[in-house]
Amino acid sequence: METLEKKRLAAQAAVRYLEDGMVVGIGTGSTVNEFITALADRRIRLEGAVSSSQATSARLRELGIPEMDLNSAGDLALYIDGADEATRHGALIKGGGAALTREKIVAAASKRFVCIIDEEKLVDVLGGFPLPVEVIPMGRSYVARRIVALGGQPVWRERVVTDNGNAILDVHNLRILDPVGLETEINQIAGVVTVGLFARRGADELLVGGDGGVRRITP
Ligand code: A5P
Repeated sequence: METLEKKRLAAQAAVRYLEDGMVVGIGTGSTVNEFITALADRRIRLEGAVSSSQATSARLRELGIPEMDLNSAGDLALYIDGADEATRHGALIKGGGAALTREKIVAAASKRFVCIIDEEKLVDVLGGFPLPVEVIPMGRSYVARRIVALGGQPVWRERVVTDNGNAILDVHNLRILDPVGLETEINQIAGVVTVGLFARRGADELLVGGDGGVRRITP
């Protein structure tokens, strides 16, 4: 089965969590795009969707799904998003699409975070996927030096500017045995806006699409 088909299975399974009249947080990426398509196909009438990126907002507009501002929506019942890597404990690496900061805000404001992935993304130890870090542009080199001191190898994602006007460093060569500790440590470096480790607030449920269908993991 193709990877996109596995993503689609997970995305379609997540649509069953929705009900008419809900306000839902929606992440970013190709898996989430499948989710938005399934949501529109099944004609679920949300009160609104809180988007985590300009790309997702554009997709919601295309399909006529009403968007709400997080400041007026308050706490959300549900957040649906993908990830770049996930452990069975619900710790995630996110930010391959550079939307990590807004994703982290919407995840934090949500009571339940359901993460939709294909089975190739499920790992025992995070770090095979380079860890994205959003940084204030003037602090990029300083942050990179501090990350080298932590044992990582940061690579500037050139020509990418986040929705917040910032830069992204992708940190290679990490074997993340303590996701909560590393998330805290990197977030404390001056100039870091957000690290793409979602461990303090990880996923409450994983829906994993694979050859055998969709597996539900509740950490
Ligand atoms: C966006 O910044 C990321 O956090 C995405 O959630 C992640 O990259 C997953 O993307 P795909 O669904 O495209 O694999």
